[in-house]
Order: sequence, then structure tokens, then C-alpha cells
Amino acid sequence: MKIFIDSANVQQIEEVNGWGILDGVTTNPTLIAKEQTDFGTLVRQICTIVNGPISAEAISMKAGDIVVEARELASIHKNIVVKIPVTEEGLRATKTLSKEGVSINTTLVFSPAQALLACKAGARYISPFVGRLDDVGSDGMDVVAQILDILDNYQFDAEVIVASVRHPIHVVEAARMGAHIATVPYEVLKKMFKHPLTDLGIEKFLQDWQKVARH
Ligand code: G3P
Repeated sequence: MKIFIDSANVQQIEEVNGWGILDGVTTNPTLIAKEQTDFGTLVRQICTIVNGPISAEAISMKAGDIVVEARELASIHKNIVVKIPVTEEGLRATKTLSKEGVSINTTLVFSPAQALLACKAGARYISPFVGRLDDVGSDGMDVVAQILDILDNYQFDAEVIVASVRHPIHVVEAARMGAHIATVPYEVLKKMFKHPLTDLGIEKFLQDWQKVARH
């Protein structure tokens, strides 16, 4: 399973990249807006840190404009993946761009039907937002399971990025389902390490080692 960080913060990305487990990065306009650096500079900087897919979102709404914007984003670096929301115009742009070899991450996916259309349009990645589905009383991970069934039935070569991850259990469920990727916020990645029994175990081992050292 691949783990991406869902962040545009260079310090967070550098730190997690240093753990040796990071396969890629996803950003979105909200995450970019939290940073002080301009979009192009920030995306270029992220590409120098992580050698893997880096998602940058197109904000145009008309297919023709999305295509122009996506080509510009893709020209920044070979690892850029363009995020496009799953709208009618977005799908039209995805079809054009995927034929040109631009990698598309179809975003704001909330249903298996949307995922099916994105696959048919040639999306390389499909991003269901599980946390936001849970927030409105739906089961986000059930939507992921249905999307994985569809991909498997027809051997679509798109990969599912489980997004809008809120806690480590989302990541574990994604892994158990065989989702290809989870994009995980920094705070959740840190929580994945933590277990009180690990902390207690280290404390006890260090205490006991003091006794050995005195002999
Ligand atoms: O990057 C897209 C997605 O992960 C956003 O998550 O927490 O804003 O629902 P969230």
C-alpha cells in the first residue's frame, strides 16, 4: 500500500519523507491557502523533496480552461498529477488530458457512480473523500469498497486514493480492503506511530537496563 501525505506544508513533507515511508503528496486549494508561498513555487519545492506523484489541483470550471491549466501544471515537473473535480466539464477535460498522457487524479468523489465515470474518462487516480462522507452520516469506507469492486470487475488500471482521512482506523481499513493508496494528514500520520503500550514498554526496558548496567 502506498502512503501519501495530504499537505502542502514543506516542513511536514520533509519530516515525513525522512521516515522513509512516503510515496507521494496530495495538495488542494485549501491546503495551499494555508501556506505563505505562491502556488507554483510551492509545488516546485515539493517536487524536489518527494520522488513520487504530487497532486496539484486545477481550479478552472470549463473543460477548455481546465485543459489549459492542467497542461501548465503538468509542465512543472514529470511527477505532477493534476487533480480535477468529478464534474461533467471535469470529465471532458480528463478524457482529453489522459489521451495526451497527463496523469489525472479525479477528486471530490463521493459515490461509486462518479468513480466509474472517472475511470472511463481515463483518470489515473480516484479520490473518494471518506471523512466528509462520514461527516454527513454515510459510510465513507463502504464507498471505497464499492469503488474497488468496480475497478476489479473491469480491470481499470486507476488507483484509489483514500482521501479526507481523519484517523488511523481509516488507513487500516483502507489497507485491509486493498485500497492502493491512502493520503494522510500529518497529524494522523503521527498518531499511526503511537501506542501507550509501546511507550510503557520502552520505559520499562530502559529502567531494567539500568539494573543490568550496575552489575
Ligand atoms: O485532499 C483532499 C482531502 O483529503 C481533504 O480532506 O479533511 O478537508 O475533508 P478534508
